Amino acid sequence: MKPDSQPRSLSAVLDSFDARWSPRIVTRVNDYDVRVAKAEGEHVWHVHEDTDEFFLVTEGELRIALREDGAEREVVLPAGSVFTVPRGTWHRPSAPTGASLLLLEPTGTSSVGDAHDPVPEHVDATTGHHLEA
Ligand code: NI
Repeated sequence: MKPDSQPRSLSAVLDSFDARWSPRIVTRVNDYDVRVAKAEGEHVWHVHEDTDEFFLVTEGELRIALREDGAEREVVLPAGSVFTVPRGTWHRPSAPTGASLLLLEPTGTSSVGDAHDPVPEHVDATTGHHLEA
């Protein structure tokens, strides 16, 4: 994707699709995608072995369950919060009441990671969708 020549409205992008857990690539920074996604219900347990994953919650509330040192904990991100899941950490985002997210990850990163539990039908296992021109 070429660098954008015009600003892009995140709310307009979010209004342009309904699919949950199906990230759209809104721009790039060096070799990173900036993606937005709608979240509702549960994603899937997965791990990115080689990259951290940055979350900014723009609407609603996101929860991220984490498996660390043999224990499980959950972080809660209200709108306006940021959190980075460290590489190598199994995690499962969820949004019981819905949320909109902005994610930063290297281009080509699968949204279900390098290893994952069986992917349910409502979760998109791609590396992000490009927007129509
Ligand atoms: Ni992830």
